[in-house]
Amino acid sequence: MSRFAYVNGRFTRHRDAAIHIEDRGYQFADAVYEVIAIQNGSFVDEGPHLDRLDRSLGELRMAPPVARSALKRILRETVRRNRVRDGIVYLQVSRGVARRDHAFPAHRKSSLVVTARSMKPKSAALADGVVVVTTEDIRWKRCDIKTVGLLPNVLAKQRAVEAGAYESWMVTPDGDVTEGTSANAWIVTAGREVVTRPPTNAILNGITRRTVRAIAEREGYAVVERVFSLNEARAAAEAFLTSTTSHVMPVVRIDDRPVGDGRPGPLTAALQADYAAHAGMAHPDTA
Ligand code: PDD
Repeated sequence: MSRFAYVNGRFTRHRDAAIHIEDRGYQFADAVYEVIAIQNGSFVDEGPHLDRLDRSLGELRMAPPVARSALKRILRETVRRNRVRDGIVYLQVSRGVARRDHAFPAHRKSSLVVTARSMKPKSAALADGVVVVTTEDIRWKRCDIKTVGLLPNVLAKQRAVEAGAYESWMVTPDGDVTEGTSANAWIVTAGREVVTRPPTNAILNGITRRTVRAIAEREGYAVVERVFSLNEARAAAEAFLTSTTSHVMPVVRIDDRPVGDGRPGPLTAALQADYAAHAGMAHPDTA
């Protein structure tokens, strides 16, 4: 089946889709993006994702490419043309095309690219949980903005892949865990506290993170937003990561040490099932 991409006002075949070489996304990573899950044909948490897009654009003084209502129509049309029932829709907004110069161009014509593809929920194939390795967090001080400037994340993820791991958790010089390369990091302490780092400039405030936090609170768990160290994570009873594509994913090993007994923990499994219900998915056990 042919895939289609939306690029600046028109749909083209995915393989022919292209942007100008002077697009500032290409020249400077002067661009932001969002990834939204589609489950059973519905968008998961679309409103919060588009709110975060507006925030990223605002923080960088970038013009919205189209109004939100038009953007929602474009997202739906991209999903429809690519016949995605379960998968992701990806959108990228850059500060547009201009002769290469670091300062903003005089025009405010942002570029918009939207693609979609089918994807099976990863939690089904990885029911035994995943391994993470750790790397130094070498990123800038505005990790709260979802920009396409992801080189540190790319390098850290490549390290994970080369180590046979699923993800890299990034660690500050003080020994604190910030987040994964494309997922937020969580631990469950021996005292059954569910801990994740507060949403400061040091991490991306994940939409899945916010949903899982609300679910955990609704279920009566003690959720604490605070900085936690790598040593604490190593000693934790359970650990997991959250993202649009990984949902709630148990972490069973950090570097060379098992987390807890090395199997997905019960609290993590409960949150995983609750999140799956929220997202309208079949539970991983039954998928
Ligand atoms: N990544 N932290 C980082 C650095 C991320 O890139 C992401 C998302 C998250 C989780 O955010 P959310 O729950 O909103 O997906 C945390 C997306 C999925 C990606 O780049 O593919």
